[in-house]
Amino acid sequence: MGSTISQFFPPKSNFSVDDIPNLEGQVIIVTGGSSGIGKETVKALLQHNAKVYIAARNAKNTREAIEDLKAQTGKEAEFLQLDLADLQSVKRAAAEFSECVLNFWIWM
Ligand SMILES: NC(=O)c1ccc[n+]([C@@H]2O[C@H](COP(=O)([O-])OP(=O)(O)OC[C@H]3O[C@@H](n4cnc5c(N)ncnc54)[C@H](OP(=O)(O)O)[C@@H]3O)[C@@H](O)[C@H]2O)c1
Repeated sequence: MGSTISQFFPPKSNFSVDDIPNLEGQVIIVTGGSSGIGKETVKALLQHNAKVYIAARNAKNTREAIEDLKAQTGKEAEFLQLDLADLQSVKRAAAEFSECVLNFWIWM
């Protein structure tokens, strides 16, 4: 019962964006990183020096998001085009990504 209540009314987090360590040298793919919560995630990761790839479908929206994030953080994310609902598109994006990046750390 206690855990059900805490899922509806979660306690205040003890972890904030300021607690993210220096992510220099880490490569992170954020799916849906061009808007909403995904874009906020990308912003926090860029501010902590990660190399970030935004995976999304719409090139125009994503490029606008990259420009906006660059203006806010001084750091530039990369665009990885993919549609998660289309397995061929996911396969193509994975191949394209692995051609230019040897190693990555996190897929969100
Ligand atoms: N990486 C993550 O963990 C992540 C990221 C974002 C949202 N979310 C989840 O989504 C929920 C709502 O978030 P929200 O309202 O901020 O955003 P949202 O509107 O749900 O998501 C928008 C983002 O997802 C992309 N997207 C949507 N369908 C896609 C598809 N088929 N393939 C690839 N990308 C796709 C959009 O870009 P395009 O239209 O250009 O594809 C855009 O960047 C939350 O529950 C959140 O947890 C999770």
